Amino acid sequence: MMKSQITVWRLLSSALILGSVRASPIPSAEVSIVEGPQPQLTAKEQSAVQLPCAYQLPDVLRQSNSVTLRWRKDGKTLRQVELGQTSSTTSEPQLETMVREDARLTLRKENGSLHFAGVLASDAGQYQCELVVEGRPAISSNSGSLEVIEQLKFVPQPQPTKNLELGSVSKVHCKAQGTPPPQVKWMRESQLPLPENVTDHNGTLVFRGVSNEQRGQYTCMASNSQGQISATVSINVVVAPKFTVPPVGPGEISEGDIAVMHCQATGEPKPTIQWDKDLTYLNENNTDPARFHLLENGTLEIHNVQTEDEGRYGCTIGSSAGLKREEVLLVVKSNKSASNSIITRIIIVIICLAFLYFVLVLGLKLWYRYRRHMGKVQLEDATHAAVDGDGDGHEHAEHEPCLTEANSSKNLKSKLRESTILEQESQVADDIV
Ligand SMILES: *[C@@H]1O[C@H](CO)[C@@H](O)[C@H](O)[C@H]1NC(C)=O
Ligand SMILES: *[C@@H]1O[C@H](CO)[C@@H](O)[C@H](O)[C@H]1NC(C)=O
Ligand SMILES: *[C@@H]1O[C@H](CO)[C@@H](O)[C@H](O)[C@H]1NC(C)=O
Ligand SMILES: *[C@@H]1O[C@H](CO)[C@@H](O)[C@H](O)[C@H]1NC(C)=O
Ligand SMILES: *[C@@H]1O[C@H](CO)[C@@H](O)[C@H](O)[C@H]1NC(C)=O
Repeated sequence: MMKSQITVWRLLSSALILGSVRASPIPSAEVSIVEGPQPQLTAKEQSAVQLPCAYQLPDVLRQSNSVTLRWRKDGKTLRQVELGQTSSTTSEPQLETMVREDARLTLRKENGSLHFAGVLASDAGQYQCELVVEGRPAISSNSGSLEVIEQLKFVPQPQPTKNLELGSVSKVHCKAQGTPPPQVKWMRESQLPLPENVTDHNGTLVFRGVSNEQRGQYTCMASNSQGQISATVSINVVVAPKFTVPPVGPGEISEGDIAVMHCQATGEPKPTIQWDKDLTYLNENNTDPARFHLLENGTLEIHNVQTEDEGRYGCTIGSSAGLKREEVLLVVKSNKSASNSIITRIIIVIICLAFLYFVLVLGLKLWYRYRRHMGKVQLEDATHAAVDGDGDGHEHAEHEPCLTEANSSKNLKSKLRESTILEQESQVADDIV
């Protein structure tokens, strides 16, 4: 199959070369565009349009890959296709799919016509088709002008309602498109002139200092030779919500008491008041109705406050004119604070430890003193027994151990040693304190 085509092409090209000497075997008249696009075509937007490009091609060329049909729009290639029958089986990507993807546009290979499923305003322009045989100059059709009649429409469609802030300078836009370009005009209700301080700037309604008298229905009308369309906009005059009584804080409340938080607001329309705790809206389902009272005037009362009620309480005021939120911190003081507070517990533990230590050291001191005393008594007893065995001496020694110490010369050395050790020991005890 392929081989035979190549042979045909070889023969053809050699014939073409020879053609310069002899007459061409394919006369130029055999490759031609019989019918090009209509010189003037006017189509309504969204309608189907077909631009013809009927061509004549000898079967020899029709079976080769060397003929291209191309459509140009304003000089630029829009679509092109290889007319050879094998083109659909070649591995090369189809050129038709490489040029601008647009499902609305198809190029019919069998008769060369360009088909629009629904024309858009952007499709308007100059169209021309072209037949290109390899090695020959391109054959062009006449140029056809496509005009699209754009439907009269608002772009974008105006919003049915518009909220304007009282006292502000506001604008309301109305834009329309169509062929020919439409005139756009604003009116009050459907026919009344515009109120004072409201002007129409080429389809844009300008409010200089929005006032309550300006509220109402305004109509935007767009018209051209095709007809007339209109859109009605309802103008509302609003006042953004504002706190008259904002929640104040931080608040500190004792467990079991009543916490009262106020929140009031003004605005037009009247804003609603919504309380939240740590960003979770309070409602009948997540609060204890016996303790939480959300009053009509916006005040939030919490009876018998619990420690878990501590947190950030936010009041949101809102209307169609906007939203605002303010929050306060509520701190709950516990009644069992001594046992609850970690710091207090730590302090108590430290005091107890210090007390225990003091008692311990005091006990040690007393014990050493007692030991020292017992040691002296024994020494006294031993001395008395050895020197005179007098009972008075014993009593004397108990009250004036220093004198006894001085008197007894025999055991002075050992006594001194013992007392130094005791002194050192008691000093160590003192140092610990
Ligand atoms: C071209 O072919 C298509 C079908 O493939 C047909 O709908 C259309 O009318 C034809 N156009 C012309 C100009 O013959
Ligand atoms: C229009 O604006 C002027 C100046 O801002 C003001 O004095 C006047 O009262 C306004 N008229 C109406 C009807 O609002
Ligand atoms: C009104 O708008 C049109 C197109 O949007 C523009 O051509 C024209 O100049 C404008 N006129 C004025 C007075 O702004
Ligand atoms: C409270 O719970 C009931 C039943 O589950 C539900 O219908 C209602 O919408 C809830 N209310 C709020 C404010 O979530
Ligand atoms: C709201 O009403 C309650 C009881 O009627 C009152 O105690 C509270 O003070 C009121 N709030 C304000 C902000 O006036």
